[in-house]
Amino acid sequence: MSDSRILPPLSRRALLTGAAGAATLATLPRFATPAIAQAAPLRVGLMLPYTGTYAKLGQFIDDGFRLRVEQLGGKLGGRDVTFVQVDDESKPETATDNMNRLVGRDKVDVVIGTVHSGVAMAMVKVARDSGTMLIIPNAGANDATGPACAPNIFRTSFSNWQTTFPMGKVMADAGIKNVATITWKYTAGAEMIGAFSENFTKNGGKIVEDLTLPFPQVEFQALITRIAQLKPDAVFSFFAGGGAVKFVKDYAAAGLGKSIPLYGAGFLTDGTIEAQGEAANGLKTTLHYADNLDNPANVAFLKAFKAKTQKDGDIYAVQGFDAASLLEIGLGAVKGDAGARDAMIKAMAAAKIDSPRGPLSFNKAHNPIQNIYLREVRNGRNELVSIAQSAVDDPARGCRMT
Ligand code: BEZ
Repeated sequence: MSDSRILPPLSRRALLTGAAGAATLATLPRFATPAIAQAAPLRVGLMLPYTGTYAKLGQFIDDGFRLRVEQLGGKLGGRDVTFVQVDDESKPETATDNMNRLVGRDKVDVVIGTVHSGVAMAMVKVARDSGTMLIIPNAGANDATGPACAPNIFRTSFSNWQTTFPMGKVMADAGIKNVATITWKYTAGAEMIGAFSENFTKNGGKIVEDLTLPFPQVEFQALITRIAQLKPDAVFSFFAGGGAVKFVKDYAAAGLGKSIPLYGAGFLTDGTIEAQGEAANGLKTTLHYADNLDNPANVAFLKAFKAKTQKDGDIYAVQGFDAASLLEIGLGAVKGDAGARDAMIKAMAAAKIDSPRGPLSFNKAHNPIQNIYLREVRNGRNELVSIAQSAVDDPARGCRMT
């Protein structure tokens, strides 16, 4: 593994930019990898947020990916690995240029990224146009494995639909009738709230109001006051990273925690509990991971992650770790020849990974099939309550590979 670097902010003149860049890339031969390059280190682009509200999420994905590569002797498919890092800052407006730079200038063999759904969709477009292999280690934009699905695009995380749909039934079954929702107004928020609401109303529940604020704002007070006025039976939310820390603390400080229970997509409390402290206690969420999953893969992963980083692993680290495992399966099948694209994709599509999250396989759209767990924050951890829905498969609406 060679040293990584965070690249300086985008210099517009030095780069392939926007539509012009995409047009240039479109003229490159698809899947071109000269045979002579096969012995050279594999070039892996890590396009993740290293600053901003999702900075910790990006860093944990990075740490998880590198941990797995280290476990593989610093190699993928038998080849040494060179990393090229880009801080995407969770900004969709610079995403196309950043991705074009990785593909066009840095000539990476594969890109791992990213966290934010809007940034990911710009990356998906470049990956489709250029044929570059892309593994999405977090962003849940439904379209990435829906209408925009492609053979060279895989996801080791989730679709936004997948993580919250099961919670609709869990909350209805708990006798909750009226729910107010709250989230950031962007793709991930809209799709997670949409999937929850779809299943909650199907099971007899009613949404009394959908509250939103622009990403990544954290001035929650007016919306929390509105929740107090509405007096729903419960609140369902999506926030993540730094914003989730502040929302959970503000909600508790407003004294609503006991009278109007707060639920959420698991991102509300994953990687955030330590900073949320007491305010997170008792929160129930759904996600494809729980800290105390008692399977050998999770026990070994948490131990190794702690040894490497001195930090407790979370879902983001797991998704990065599994991205490297998936790439190893693909490259291993072609002995490191990243140009043998069809065979590589075939092996990745058929992968069955013994993930820390439990069994992980992929549907025809290349989105994970996985358990979604109901968790509760106890003792400063997201502890397993039950499997909310097993082997959840995203419907992949609009994907032509299904
Ligand atoms: C998203 O934008 O897709 C996303 C961001 C953070 C956590 C989960 C999803």
